[in-house]
Amino acid sequence: MKKLIEAARITKRHAHAPYSKYQVGAAVLTEDDTIICGCNVESSSYGLTCCAERVAIFSAIAQGYNKFKALAVITDNGGTPCGACRQVIWDLCGDIPIYISDNEGNIEKSTCKKLLPNAFDSSKLK
Ligand code: THU
Repeated sequence: MKKLIEAARITKRHAHAPYSKYQVGAAVLTEDDTIICGCNVESSSYGLTCCAERVAIFSAIAQGYNKFKALAVITDNGGTPCGACRQVIWDLCGDIPIYISDNEGNIEKSTCKKLLPNAFDSSKLK
């Protein structure tokens, strides 16, 4: 997990966050132990901004991965994933462990279910 968190920490530096100045790094661990990273990318039309978690997961999907074992997210102050990302994590990763870190090296281990209890589930669509 140290490797996953470190990858997220390094990728946070690439954040494009000129409006909020809030940098976020994320890294997702695939079934075969590949690490795919993401950072937040903001738009001048604020609503078009994409969070680090979704950039990481969508990048992994685009690279052909579709099974995930863990996610790490890091900010300066230990911010937790937003509601939209929680739903996307649930949809594409299921109930994986989520490691939430800050600048001081604090790590909080959570899970997708803990962060999004009673999530909307795609099985309801079938
Ligand atoms: N942000 C993320 O990257 N992930 C989250 O889960 C919460 C928010 C970003 C979006 C925006 O660029 C900045 O943090 C402030 O909201």
